[in-house]
Amino acid sequence: MNPIKFNYEYDREIKAGFIGCGAHAFRNVYPTFDYAPVDLVAVCDLNAERAEIYRKRFGAENIYTDYKEMIKQEKLDAVFVVLNFDKEGRPMYPRIVPDLLEAGLPVWMEKPAAYTADEVERMLEVEERSGQFVLVANKRYFYPTFEKAKQIIGLEGFGEPVSINGRYPLTLSPYQEDIATRTGLHWFQDICHPMSGIHYLMGEVKEMCFIEHQPSGNVQALLQFKSGGIGNLQLASTQAPTSPLERFEVIGSNQNVVIDNGMRLIYYKGSKGSGEYGKAPVYIGDDPADGPVLWEPEFSLGQVYNKNLFLQGMVQSVNYFANAVLEGKKIERSTLRDSLHLTKIFDAFKQRSGKWITIG
Ligand SMILES: NC(=O)c1ccc[n+]([C@@H]2O[C@H](COP(=O)([O-])OP(=O)(O)OC[C@H]3O[C@@H](n4cnc5c(N)ncnc54)[C@H](O)[C@@H]3O)[C@@H](O)[C@H]2O)c1
Repeated sequence: MNPIKFNYEYDREIKAGFIGCGAHAFRNVYPTFDYAPVDLVAVCDLNAERAEIYRKRFGAENIYTDYKEMIKQEKLDAVFVVLNFDKEGRPMYPRIVPDLLEAGLPVWMEKPAAYTADEVERMLEVEERSGQFVLVANKRYFYPTFEKAKQIIGLEGFGEPVSINGRYPLTLSPYQEDIATRTGLHWFQDICHPMSGIHYLMGEVKEMCFIEHQPSGNVQALLQFKSGGIGNLQLASTQAPTSPLERFEVIGSNQNVVIDNGMRLIYYKGSKGSGEYGKAPVYIGDDPADGPVLWEPEFSLGQVYNKNLFLQGMVQSVNYFANAVLEGKKIERSTLRDSLHLTKIFDAFKQRSGKWITIG
């Protein structure tokens, strides 16, 4: 694994523009540039006052309130886009990202990419036509725990990943017959969080089926993967806010791996103490070194790995993107095509019923 470099240690950097001076960007995106080969040249927000604050705070040269003007005036290598939602709660990326691609600029953007799979397909058409690429920052594609779990899943001893169980708290509103839709679709902003993690570990979903408990909003989604693997996602809307947010467990044909609370990784392998059932005096294996492995960070040292920017893979996704731009390569992880799959899954959640829904 390559050690991290501080921004000023890079010999080459991409010249970047940034559209969106909002809260998430302030907390989790602009600060990643301290550890990435990114030279922030210009920032753009509809609110000029806010743009000026971000310009000063994060060291850009110029501000804009119109992104078209920014890409015309500045010589950029790439653009970061972190926008909010329109009045109907739909992401605004599909309205802006095609213009950036057409202008020959690769794009790093936040999730969710769009409200419908059709919108993602239209962005994909432009991406292909322009020869550029888009990274949609579904961060579980870059969490160190998910990366290492994937590495474990690929080990011969693990066997095939046959089953996954995920838990994540989201409240899904009931279908309202009178208005023929579901209101309160706020949950859709976040369904890509657990589903991108599941997608990364298990591959594409073939079919989904749902059972739900209303009015609590708890939902269980059953998953059949194209690989033949199976799984479920429990949207535990009424779990205690004090519990760790999420937990994922993949069962292989011989071993299993757990990601708990986003940062604890447990790999169950090895053998228990010998002896037939009821007669084994010790649970720890005869070879005590050949047993489960547990990883969690220490939070005492002034390291970078224990910052949330690294624990949640934000720096890693920005570095992956910036290095691809510098090397003139396309990305293979966290792509727009991955987001098309996630948006189709979101569409299935919108339709959900007791019947199996095929994910195209
Ligand atoms: N990955 C995560 O954990 C995570 C967490 C929170 C939010 N997000 C995502 O981040 C994004 C932003 O969320 P937020 O809560 O920070 O939103 P926000 O409302 O705080 O920020 C959005 C900003 O975009 C600006 N904007 C909108 N349209 C624009 C345009 N055409 N040109 C220039 N600026 C424009 C707005 O003025 C606003 O300042 C969303 O996509 C959200 O889903 C991700």
